Amino acid sequence: MNSPVTVTKLQKMKTNGEKIVALTAYDHPFAKLVDEAGVHMILVGDSVGMVVQGKSSTLPVTMDEMIYHTKMVSRAVNHAIVVGDMPFMSYQTGKSEAITNAGRFIKEGDAAAIKLEGGAAVSETIRAITGAGIPVLAHIGLLPQSVHQMGGFKVQRDEERLLADAIEVETAGAFAVILEGIPDDISKKVSEKINIPTIGIGAGINCDGQILVLHDVLGLTDRHVPKFVKKYVDLGSAAKDGIRKYVEEVQESKFPAKEHFYG
Ligand code: KIV
Repeated sequence: MNSPVTVTKLQKMKTNGEKIVALTAYDHPFAKLVDEAGVHMILVGDSVGMVVQGKSSTLPVTMDEMIYHTKMVSRAVNHAIVVGDMPFMSYQTGKSEAITNAGRFIKEGDAAAIKLEGGAAVSETIRAITGAGIPVLAHIGLLPQSVHQMGGFKVQRDEERLLADAIEVETAGAFAVILEGIPDDISKKVSEKINIPTIGIGAGINCDGQILVLHDVLGLTDRHVPKFVKKYVDLGSAAKDGIRKYVEEVQESKFPAKEHFYG
């Protein structure tokens, strides 16, 4: 197995024009699969609220829940860099609280970095967290934690503001930045303008890497998925078929069979 992925390695990948592959994970068995499949970065996303907890947004997710999931993921991963996602109101309330909560991801969750949402508005927070020795993955464009302020999940097209946000988060010390819900031509300009890697989600082909939500990729969600999602396998249907077969066999006294008995 290759050596573990670090922020330095991600920067080198951008320099060398190698694509960075990122995916979310929230628990031990899936994190192990994702890591073994060769993904470079695993984000323990606050999307856990929607795809695992069944909530309609990411807003109710708590720090304690994020730490719980990050611990499970970190225990499974040997290669990818694990990034913990700062939930709503864990960093917006002040720099000191932001550093404390970011530190929990490292100390308790065994993550190597954290992610937070926002551009220029959070640059001082990014500066404070990186100043404490914690690598920060920034996130600009469509910001799910600001869904009410943005008036819904809308593609972000203000090129000037997106470029300014990208420059601000880079200057503040972020090691990479997620570009969410941005037209392809704008993410191309952003990716060319800044030196740190850009990781796109709904941001076209011109980013330095891509990230998706694991449960969307595996067909494990029945939520409305945005246009940018690609379902690579329908595990949901396979799982339901298997469970139906079990129900049938128990009801028809076919399971357990002799080979499952103790003598
Ligand atoms: O929480 C999450 O999964 C994310 C990704 C969609 C980037 O923020």
